[in-house]
Amino acid sequence: MPFHVLISDNVDKRAVALLQQSQDIRVTFEGDMPRDKVISILGDVDALVIRSATKADAALLEYAPNLKAIARAGVGVDNVDLNFATDKNIVVMNTPDGNTISTAEFTFGLMLSLARHIPQAHGSLAGGKWDRKSFTGVELRGKTLGVVGFGRIGRQVAKRANAFDMNVIAFDPFVLPDLAADMDVSMVDLDTLYAQSDFITLHTTVTDESRYMVNAATIAKMKKGVRIINAARGVLINDSDLAEAIKSGQVGGAGLDVYEPEPPTADNPLIGLPGVIHTPHLAASTSDAQNNVALDAAQLILDALLQGRYANVCNPKVLHK
Ligand code: MLT
Repeated sequence: MPFHVLISDNVDKRAVALLQQSQDIRVTFEGDMPRDKVISILGDVDALVIRSATKADAALLEYAPNLKAIARAGVGVDNVDLNFATDKNIVVMNTPDGNTISTAEFTFGLMLSLARHIPQAHGSLAGGKWDRKSFTGVELRGKTLGVVGFGRIGRQVAKRANAFDMNVIAFDPFVLPDLAADMDVSMVDLDTLYAQSDFITLHTTVTDESRYMVNAATIAKMKKGVRIINAARGVLINDSDLAEAIKSGQVGGAGLDVYEPEPPTADNPLIGLPGVIHTPHLAASTSDAQNNVALDAAQLILDALLQGRYANVCNPKVLHK
């Protein structure tokens, strides 16, 4: 009997082709699949490939008695119940490399858009106006960029910021200062980053410490007029506090690609607020990144099912039970 692999989200089709090259694999794939349908199929599924739409929580995984591996085509595994997966001997893996550059480039797009009001100016002209007075911006050159989280994406953003002659500082308790110094970046504590940055960009994972880290108390420590970019996870920001700070002018603008929840609720105070640029979780949405993460995810599943080899394991305890 071939292994049954379910791809329940809209993953690049090249993943299907790669998996189907093996006669030992049978694939079910039809783009984004409603949760009810995923549950109805899971009974004989050996491996699951997902992006962020499928919520692989305990209630869903209960229906997958044969599941051995989950591959997340992307970085964040906040849509997977890692503890439950570990209990049920399901190995959860991600593809941390494939969308790094796309996300870093998108972050830069948000930063330039914030600095120069490009989306607002586009909207104005598309609406029939010729307004050259309302959109005076600032240069990035000489400004200080504070990078919160100096992992893969944070480092690529820093590299690009250096090319724009920005002064880059970063906070990451897990990164040695020497590595940053080699990239012309100074590692600082969070309070220093808040006090010195003209732009702050978030690239950290969600932990008890980082959840709602941008809030009224931390915003009060920031430079007046700071611009904040979030292409990581919505839950890093307290939306009401940020909205109030934008209205008061303490924060000069925000570029947001992520929300809690997604899609944002109708009462989200940031949506439509002047000074906020928002996009619907698009940072990794390039053909390049989606090709990379799909192929990486498919290869992880092939190695896991056919060779018993696991890489990029997000719940390593499962391998030492
Ligand atoms: C990720 O975690 O990889 C990104 O947020 C993109 C995505 O969710 O697909």
